[in-house]
Amino acid sequence: MTTSTGDRDVVDILTTDHHEVLDLVSQIPGADPAQRRDMTDTVIAELMRHSVAEEMYVYPAMRDHLPDGEGKVQHDIEEHQQLVEVMKELEDLDAADARFLETLGRLEQVLRDHVSDEERDQFPLLRAHLTREQLVELGTKVETAKKAAPTRPHPSAPHSELFHKVLGPGVGLVDRLRDKLRGRSDRA
Ligand SMILES: [Fe+2]
Ligand SMILES: [Fe+2]
Repeated sequence: MTTSTGDRDVVDILTTDHHEVLDLVSQIPGADPAQRRDMTDTVIAELMRHSVAEEMYVYPAMRDHLPDGEGKVQHDIEEHQQLVEVMKELEDLDAADARFLETLGRLEQVLRDHVSDEERDQFPLLRAHLTREQLVELGTKVETAKKAAPTRPHPSAPHSELFHKVLGPGVGLVDRLRDKLRGRSDRA
């Protein structure tokens, strides 16, 4: 991994995210319940930031430049929605609960399907239809969006306000996540 993002295009960045999160998910069943909670919260935060950045910048580029981009974006957003639903279930379950690992397994399955769609279909098409400069510029925007996006699914976290302040309103995923993950503050 390089220290500068200047030479990494958007596909490199997003693909690295995918494999870091999947790697972490695969380690959770072997951890004790206290570690499982922390690791799962990290997975959720990273998936949120990644998904928000994709919906902000990458999916609009797919819509504009890919054949049947609109259809691909709709499909991907539906899968993000499925991820959010399972993340909400994981938020509500105790890590020692027998259903926790079953639910984590469903998250992993949906995530692997989604990652496979992006990496085998949409990302190669992005590379085919955008210039190197456009791909690197998108990568820079994604890195910025990830920094500003909420890192925890907490309804009153300043991250989401900051995110809206920096990047503007209308980020559907942020709003949906905030609604779906409401209640976490009761436990925190
Ligand atoms: Fe992705
Ligand atoms: Fe995605």
